Amino acid sequence: MLELSVSRLGFGLVAASPWLLLLVVGTSWLLARILAWTYTFYNNCRLLQCFPQPPKLNWFFAHLYLVPPTEQGLRKSTQLAANYSHGYLIWFGPITPMIVFCHPDMLRSIANASGDGLLLSAGDKWSRHRHLLTPAFHFNILKPYMKIFTKSTDIMHTKWERLITQGHTRLDMFEHLSLLTLDSLQKCVFSFDSNCQEKPSKYITAILELSELVAKRNRQIFLHADFLYFLTLDGWRFRRACRLVHDFTDAVIQERRRTLPENVDDFLKAKAKTKTLDFIDVLLLTKDEDGKRLSDEDIRAEADTFMFEGHDTTASGLSWILYNLAKHPEYQEHCRQEVQELLRDRESKEIEWDDLAQLPFLTMCIKESLRLHPPVTIISRCCTQDIVLPNGRVIPKGVICIIDIFGTHHNPSVWPDPEVYDPFRFDQENIKGRSPLAFIPFSAGPRNCIGQTFAMTEMKVVLALTLLRFRFLPDKEEPRRKRELILRAEGGLWLQVEPLSASPQ
Ligand code: HEM
Repeated sequence: MLELSVSRLGFGLVAASPWLLLLVVGTSWLLARILAWTYTFYNNCRLLQCFPQPPKLNWFFAHLYLVPPTEQGLRKSTQLAANYSHGYLIWFGPITPMIVFCHPDMLRSIANASGDGLLLSAGDKWSRHRHLLTPAFHFNILKPYMKIFTKSTDIMHTKWERLITQGHTRLDMFEHLSLLTLDSLQKCVFSFDSNCQEKPSKYITAILELSELVAKRNRQIFLHADFLYFLTLDGWRFRRACRLVHDFTDAVIQERRRTLPENVDDFLKAKAKTKTLDFIDVLLLTKDEDGKRLSDEDIRAEADTFMFEGHDTTASGLSWILYNLAKHPEYQEHCRQEVQELLRDRESKEIEWDDLAQLPFLTMCIKESLRLHPPVTIISRCCTQDIVLPNGRVIPKGVICIIDIFGTHHNPSVWPDPEVYDPFRFDQENIKGRSPLAFIPFSAGPRNCIGQTFAMTEMKVVLALTLLRFRFLPDKEEPRRKRELILRAEGGLWLQVEPLSASPQ
């Protein structure tokens, strides 16, 4: 009996030892991780102590609901920028600190460090792609797009004239300008005309659906994990829309590859002389120093990014510019006269590339609107190394930094009377002595918006032509701003629109 139990015991020990070893190693590893994490956490807390903090809701939620994505939240952002003019610390729950920057002096450290110190995605891949994409935004490529912007604007105007004749004088700017920017982008990226401003297009519907789903998912913190999200109906809709968008882009790339002759460079260079090169052409043409080109998958990803980054942002920019001009008829009239003066002796009422520099007041109005209503309100970066600020404070590695574009643009220590729409802030005289980081609608540093010249060009063309033909007046109700992926208005941004011939001059 005894022998049996001993042998049993012995057998058990031998068999259990690898498991026991594994358990001991596993537990030690876990303990080491917990200890390391606790040490880092306390060390970070110590370093972050010197940053001012707004009062917490409680220890668990901390500042989680401090700034909701509503009108009230945006007012709170403005108030925080006024109270903590150089930035502040917030806790996203009990253990996640974030530093919010809303002053140019502090932003300088982040903007300069964003080359290697601060990364959003894999740094090497990003910098190679950024280098390869830059030629796509060269002014020689952008110049012929002026005609595309003009054509898309004409289509929108024809639609507005029809709607106004039918009695619809109140129009939602976001709805119309989103279709216009999508129409232009689809032509500039793929040379594809879906006629989406006049009739529904499956591709455009999918892009709009994806933008809406991404904004919705952003608000649902528990659905941030992919495996949970893809179990929901929205997750299924997201997958379906993604598939449709990818299939469209793939088909264009495959078709282009099929028709391309062996010598791509000569063919595309010849095409560039006679015809507009779209972004797909440029991406097919581009290669790095070693002669390596982008793969089809890379081209698809970049083309899709242009569609997403480019349409909502520009539509938001344009919608708020028209809103601000509706609120300030004197500036609206000044812009209109500037355009009329420019085109006075011309038969064709088209804006040419060289005209863009001849619209200084209109440009000032656009910039002041991008200050007051920046389409992208915040961006975030994760520190991949400690960052020392000019005042000696240290942001420890691993902490998330929020570049509060909206807060910086509404900070009274940077912009006196920040809520007032005053285009003369961007007068040559007034720009002198102001930090370039006081105005950052397109972000700053090496990861800034690659499409900013494209966007500014499109906004100038659309605005100039639209002011020639229509007058804008505010709607009865003040819009309530809403922070989604871009700055929107609750229920749309409605304005009264009058064709100019029908209104007193
Ligand atoms: C008024 C219009 C626009 C605004 C306000 C805007 C704003 C921005 C901002 C703030 C960023 C930085 C995002 C970050 O760092 O997280 C960004 C990045 C980017 N934007 Fe724009 N954008 C506009 C239009 C466009 C257009 C028209 C395109 C393309 C046709 C475009 C393409 C991109 C791309 C590809 C990036 C990523 C750049 C990179 O990571 O290197 N954007 N944009």
